[in-house]
Order: sequence, then structure tokens, then C-alpha cells
Amino acid sequence: MSSLSSVDPQIAELIKAEERRQADTVKLIASENYVSKAVLEATGTVLTNKYSEGYPGKRYYEGQQVIDQIETLAIERAKSLFGVNHANVQPYSGSPANLAIYLAFLQPGDTVMGMGLPFGGHLTHGWSVSATGKWFNPVRYGVRRDTGRVDMDEVREIALRERPKLIFCGGTAIPRTIDFPAFAEIAREVGAVLAADIAHIAGLVAGGAHPSPVGHADVISTTTHKTLRGPRGAMLMATADEHATALNKAVFPGLQGGPHNHTTAAIAVALKEAATDEFKDYAHQVVVNSQALAEELLGRGFDLVSGGTDNHLILLDLTPKGIGGKPAAQAMDRAGLETNYNTVPFDPRKPFDPSGIRIGTAGVTSRGMGVAEMRQIGAWMDQVVSALAKDQDEAERVITRVQGEVRELTSRFPAPGL
Ligand SMILES: Cc1ncc(COP(=O)(O)O)c(C=O)c1O
Repeated sequence: MSSLSSVDPQIAELIKAEERRQADTVKLIASENYVSKAVLEATGTVLTNKYSEGYPGKRYYEGQQVIDQIETLAIERAKSLFGVNHANVQPYSGSPANLAIYLAFLQPGDTVMGMGLPFGGHLTHGWSVSATGKWFNPVRYGVRRDTGRVDMDEVREIALRERPKLIFCGGTAIPRTIDFPAFAEIAREVGAVLAADIAHIAGLVAGGAHPSPVGHADVISTTTHKTLRGPRGAMLMATADEHATALNKAVFPGLQGGPHNHTTAAIAVALKEAATDEFKDYAHQVVVNSQALAEELLGRGFDLVSGGTDNHLILLDLTPKGIGGKPAAQAMDRAGLETNYNTVPFDPRKPFDPSGIRIGTAGVTSRGMGVAEMRQIGAWMDQVVSALAKDQDEAERVITRVQGEVRELTSRFPAPGL
């Protein structure tokens, strides 16, 4: 970063500080990961200089000889990795990708059905503060109070009553496998378009560690920067030509202008990496690690929403520990364990001070950590939370000790790309 350091030493120093912070902490944020050096390199290139409105072979600017090849490679790799006929790699991120689905298939005021935010759905699935909840008519499903899982009979009942034009499955805090065939059957019954938002689990789907929505969902939306381990970006995929045409028109010119070509190149690199046997092993290890961590936490008296996990994600309800999600997440962050506070289903507390925390194993698995390290992390989480619930001075002592131990662990497991 020699040029950056001389032009803007302030920003250069801050980037270095963030790199040190990432190196020294255990990343348990379920939506994050570490990209490879190759992906990082692709994002920091001259491709950022180029405008490319349109699609390969059909652009509104000249000079696309190289960009067309890059975008075509990204598209072909996405098609091959996920087994779909069409892929659009241009959405700037997951939220605009989802908005493009609305633009492609709905008129303002039409009914959309998605999982409610407090149950694990995403804002863009029709939550009230989102444009999708303001401009469309949202109806919601949740999880059962007794099982913490989606009740497909209830989903069907709501769909039959409300007749949505679009149904979203998938979400942002769902620790269990998504039943794509059951959602598809319901969507067919009510004549809705089924969108599978696999932002969180895309890497697991690509690596064969979670069932694929292909053959069930009409359209598939995903970010590229979570378990898929690519740059910040998104993709939309479809099998039927008519769905793909509608999505392409919605992304450009419907919603966006020029694609971010440096991101497109980095997506292509990430997709190449995700097609390897090494990545398949990674995806399976993410789940093994998540289940090991879940088991450790259960053994230590934590309450896990749905009682466990099938994927990379664990949702903890801290109510029995006598502490809110926010102070727990803040204390753990100081100890070097990075998580986020999160609502849990039927949460009596407010979203900014909820009962739970959400954790995930995509990042720690990218660092090469395994079951033994998950047990250790579970023990640290318990020590911090238990001390915090008891006494502030004791909590300070535990946080300082754990921070030192976390540093020792992270120094033995260097993160990719750093
Ligand atoms: C399921 C799901 N969909 C969409 C998004 C939105 O992605 P972005 O933050 O890139 O807009 C997220 C992000 O957390 C997500 O979890």
C-alpha cells in the first residue's frame, strides 16, 4: 500500500488497523468471511475505471473487449457451480438484488410473503421499514414457538389466504435447513413466484453442505460475500428463460447503471475457488464446526433457537443466562470474540436491545479452525457471559484473560487474505 500510504496516510493507517483487528479477533459474525488474497487482488484493480452499462455483447459504452470476457466468465462459472441456466452477476449487493426481483415480477401494492424479520427473515423480504414493505403489501410467516422452526402448514395456510404474487424463502438468522420443495409446492398452488434468498448459505449450497433450491425456486438471489467467500456483491439466478429475461431487465436498466467490474472479476475468482474440492471440504467443515460449537454451548446451558443448527449459523437466546444480547455481544467483542446481537423469535425486547446473539462459523473455518477450537470458543463465550451476568469486576478480569487467550489462538490460525 505504498502509494496509499503516501497519498492518504490517515486512511492507510486505518486500513492497517482494521487488518490487525481482523487478524487478532475470532470472527463469529454469521454473515462475514475472509476472502482469499486472489479475490482481494481482483477487487483492487483498474477494472474500477470502466463503465459497462448493459450486458456482454450489448453495451452502451465502447471499450468492452476485456470486460465482456470477464463478465461472461463470471456468468458461466455461476451457471456451472449452481447448475442453473441463467445468472446475472451485476447486482451491487443483496438488497438491490432482492429489489430487482420485485421489479421483475410485481407491481407496487402487490402482495409479497416473506419470513418476518424477528423470526430470521431479511428486511428486503417485505419488512415494514424497508422499501419492500412500504411499496408492496407484505404478509409474513414465522417459526413455531415450540420448535423454533418454520411450520410449512402455516406457510401454506397464509399463502392460500393472502394469495401473494411473490414468496421469499431463506433469511438472515435461520439455523435450520430450508425446505425448498415444500415452498415450491405452496408457490405453485397459489400461482406465486418463488424466490430463494440463499445469501447466507450460498457457499454451503455450492459445496454440497445444504440442499440446493435449483429445480424448486423460480429465482435465486444470493450475496457473494458470506459463506460463498467472495467480494461484497450479489447474483440472481434462474432456470426459465422468461424469469431470466425479467431479472436482467430489472437489474439494468430497471434499477442500476454500470456494473462494478472490479467486483465482477472478484466474483469470478471466488466462483472458481468455490468449484474446487477444497471448497467442498470447507463447506462441510463449516457445518461440522457449527454443530460442535452448538453442542458445546448446549452443554453449558445456553438456549439455542430450534435447539441446534443444520448450517453455519447459531442463534442464542440469552434470557436464561439473565443478560441481554447487546451487553453480551459488546463484552465478547472486547474479549476478541466478534458476534452480533440479534432478536430471537417472539422476542419481548426491542431490536436495538434484543435477547439474543447470532454466531456463525464461516470465518473461523476459513482460518482452518476445527472442532477443538470450537469447543474452546464455546467455553470462552460461556466464561464471558457468565461473569457478566454475575459481577462487573469479575467480567473485566475474564475479558482481559480471554482476550490474551484469543490472541494466542488467532496467531496460530492466520486468516486468508490478511
Ligand atoms: C438473507 C439476506 N438477503 C439479503 C441480504 C442483503 O445483502 P446486502 O447487505 O449485501 O445488501 C442479507 C444481508 O445480510 C441477507 O442476510
